[in-house]
Amino acid sequence: MLKYYIVTYGCQMNKSDSEKVAGILERLGYIPSQQVEDADLVLLNTCSVRERAEEKVFGKLGELKKIKKKNPKVLIGVFGCMAQRMKEELIERFPHVDFVLGSYKFIKLPEVLEKVEEGKKLVIVEEDPYPEDLDWKFVKRESKFQAWVPIIYGCNNFCTYCIVPYLRGKEKSRDPKDIIKEIEFLASQGVVEVTLLGQNVDSYGKDLGNIDLADLLIEIHKIEGIKRIRFLTSHPRDVSDKLINTVAQYPKICAHWHLPLQAGSDRILQKMGRGYSYKEYKALIDKIRSKIPKASFSTDIIVGFAGEIEEDFLATKKALEEIRFDTVNLAIYSPRPGTPAAKFEDPIPYEVKKKWFEELENLQRKIVYDKNLSMLGKEEIVLAEEVNPKNLEELSGRTENYRLVFFKGDKSLIGKFLKIKITEARLWSLKGEIVGEAEV
Ligand code: SAH
Ligand code: SF4
Ligand code: F3S
Repeated sequence: MLKYYIVTYGCQMNKSDSEKVAGILERLGYIPSQQVEDADLVLLNTCSVRERAEEKVFGKLGELKKIKKKNPKVLIGVFGCMAQRMKEELIERFPHVDFVLGSYKFIKLPEVLEKVEEGKKLVIVEEDPYPEDLDWKFVKRESKFQAWVPIIYGCNNFCTYCIVPYLRGKEKSRDPKDIIKEIEFLASQGVVEVTLLGQNVDSYGKDLGNIDLADLLIEIHKIEGIKRIRFLTSHPRDVSDKLINTVAQYPKICAHWHLPLQAGSDRILQKMGRGYSYKEYKALIDKIRSKIPKASFSTDIIVGFAGEIEEDFLATKKALEEIRFDTVNLAIYSPRPGTPAAKFEDPIPYEVKKKWFEELENLQRKIVYDKNLSMLGKEEIVLAEEVNPKNLEELSGRTENYRLVFFKGDKSLIGKFLKIKITEARLWSLKGEIVGEAEV
């Protein structure tokens, strides 16, 4: 029997695509390989968002060269965003790669495999929209009770630093009927939590005309068996009052918002083309907090954007102090070829950016720890997700506000909602005790 091995880089969208690829391969009779060395087919699902993300793939391709040398029959394929960006260049630079499939092209795997097995090299990258005819029943999901469900593909925003819109194409919403059918199917299989995915979920339905994200959430809320609904990523400019009211009103929708701020300085926000000022962003957070006091927020920050000066950095620092996010993903700006910002002047040395990065990291660490301390003694509803690999007597799971909690418990509880009393605050996680099963 032929074995496959997939390595996934990048965002949740990629993780979701890898689950589809695994499903396609298993339909063809492949089985998963525990070790890359034992695989007949190795696939890299790649990300181009920062140079660092691409370097990881180059490193992996280097390792695979040795594997191919030992076993020339192994097939190596690269797909995802980096495949879309680099096209033939990947095979030119790494001749042991057998095929390159651009965004959304993994659907062609069955034909591609037939051809490469005959010894042909293939590069398929022409742009077209996400395949409609995907049979989600065959998706091989990582979890039995949680599922990612993409609702919109692509991005129309073209923030000046970002390569995603060039690689993932124009926004395209999935047919709501198809989404509902998929989630009903998932619920029938025991899934209790769904996370709706999109580069910009607030844009859902704009291209369809008669539905928006709030409407879709309300439809999903009706599905029996689904207990928690999450969604990401939101664009701060597009969050509507209707959406906020819907999240406030419908209990299954988690009031956790991933709202990338990117920078606290208006000058930089403008250069990034984000379409909001810091004041507007802060007003949005305040509005959500006033309607949903328990709301939690995560964000992305780009440190040291082209042309950023100390004053801009201090504005971002002030923003983090003011808003006190629950999670902040920090990344040092990485110029991406072909994006407008790659041509902007960027005189600040990397060392300075690194120092800024560390300063923000330290600040955020304190904020998160403080927030964790404030949860001590509280009872939280946690979906038990997995055994803690570092302590097999412990399970871990997440609260509604996406805090990671560890607690003693048997693995038979995995997939259940539990009431957990928080007993210890750590730097990046919480510890708790089971009080009982939760009614959700
Ligand atoms: N659609 C989402 C996610 C885009 S990529 C959004 O709009 O936020 C995820 C994050 O990567 C972005 O939020 C941004 O903070 C970061 N990012 C994108 N391009 C980058 C670049 N060139 N350098 C550094 N970080 C970048
Ligand atoms: Fe990139 Fe901006 Fe689109 Fe997010 S909204 S994917 S940062 S262009
Ligand atoms: Fe990376 Fe593509 Fe996602 S560039 S962040 S894998 S959309």
